[in-house]
Amino acid sequence: MYRWLVLSSRPDLWTLDPDVLHLNHGSYGAVPRRTQEVMAGLRAEMDANPMVWFRTVAGRLTASRLALAAYLETDPDGFALVPNASAGVTVALQTLPIPAGSRIVLTDHAYGAVRYAAERFAKARGAEVVIAEIPIEADDETVVALIADRLAGASVLIVDQITSGTAKVFPIDALVATAHDRGVPIVVDGAHAPALIDAPASAGADFWTGNFHKWPAAPRATAGLVVAEPWRTASMPLIVSWSEYDERMPERFDMLGTYDYVPWIAAPESLRVLAELDWPTRRPQLTTLVEEGAKVLAKALGTGVAEVAHPPATMRLVELPSSVDLSGGDALKLRVSRELKAEITFTGFDERKFIRLSAHAYNSLADYEKLSAGLPKLLA
Ligand SMILES: Cc1ncc(COP(=O)(O)O)c(C=O)c1O
Repeated sequence: MYRWLVLSSRPDLWTLDPDVLHLNHGSYGAVPRRTQEVMAGLRAEMDANPMVWFRTVAGRLTASRLALAAYLETDPDGFALVPNASAGVTVALQTLPIPAGSRIVLTDHAYGAVRYAAERFAKARGAEVVIAEIPIEADDETVVALIADRLAGASVLIVDQITSGTAKVFPIDALVATAHDRGVPIVVDGAHAPALIDAPASAGADFWTGNFHKWPAAPRATAGLVVAEPWRTASMPLIVSWSEYDERMPERFDMLGTYDYVPWIAAPESLRVLAELDWPTRRPQLTTLVEEGAKVLAKALGTGVAEVAHPPATMRLVELPSSVDLSGGDALKLRVSRELKAEITFTGFDERKFIRLSAHAYNSLADYEKLSAGLPKLLA
């Protein structure tokens, strides 16, 4: 019945350890073999003659940056390279005016480090962090209403496009419109969005950031920052660059001194791998795969697949039995890694505990079946 899924799985394009069940692409991605080879070639060039390498980096970065902006279908004049989504959010908070006494509004689904960034800037500017509480089951209309309720006195709204711990898609177009109606700038944390949502930065947010090192399988430390026109002049990289006085915003973020530019230059190779995997056809197949995998696991655990109102294409939450104790931090994850040779992640929300499952092109149903065969006993 699942034969087509097994046939379409392409672990051969990756170098992942075949003895391990890799079911958590969502955390750190996985780089295809071909991109690794491109990186190795670039590193060899760099170490054969560092002087020549650093003379050629600027031109290569421009080419890569334009390719990544085109992939997002966004204006290249407002698109800069940053190391990760955390950096993108930090640049946004550094740029936006946050007057004393104002509010930085987030939701209770926000990524931990993003919340810390909001707290750091709130403290520095004498502002307050306000959290909008959103049930997992909330539909788009409810999400917008609950966030809109918290916007009085806000200087910034930060929202996830796809949440991390709860694997839920937020209605970004409506949230951008709602924030702008109230004159509140909006920062979209699209860490998981590239390759899962088409043209993910198109809603007109003041700032949008997203990782290429998650679903597009680019080398780690490759992310993008999309800045709306009014903020481009004021937006500065976290490391002062040689283009400090360049009027062009993307260029200011390019040459950050002596830095490892190889991942940024190699990243377009992963986009080519995705294109060859026929991603527009493959992505819905991965949805079917992760849904089936989640059902198999939930059945084995005697629980259910969490009813998230708007789940993303390639991640699902499986409820953990209430008896499972996650208070030991990473201890349980480490046991699963050691004893079952499986890489998964546990998340929690509102007293509920979940396993967040991912599916990428190297996965097949057998991966989820193997996990389901071993996990109930380990958790018992
Ligand atoms: C929603 C969300 N925001 C931000 C981040 C941070 O990404 P990075 O570690 O690449 O900065 C993540 C990482 O998983 C995330 O899921």
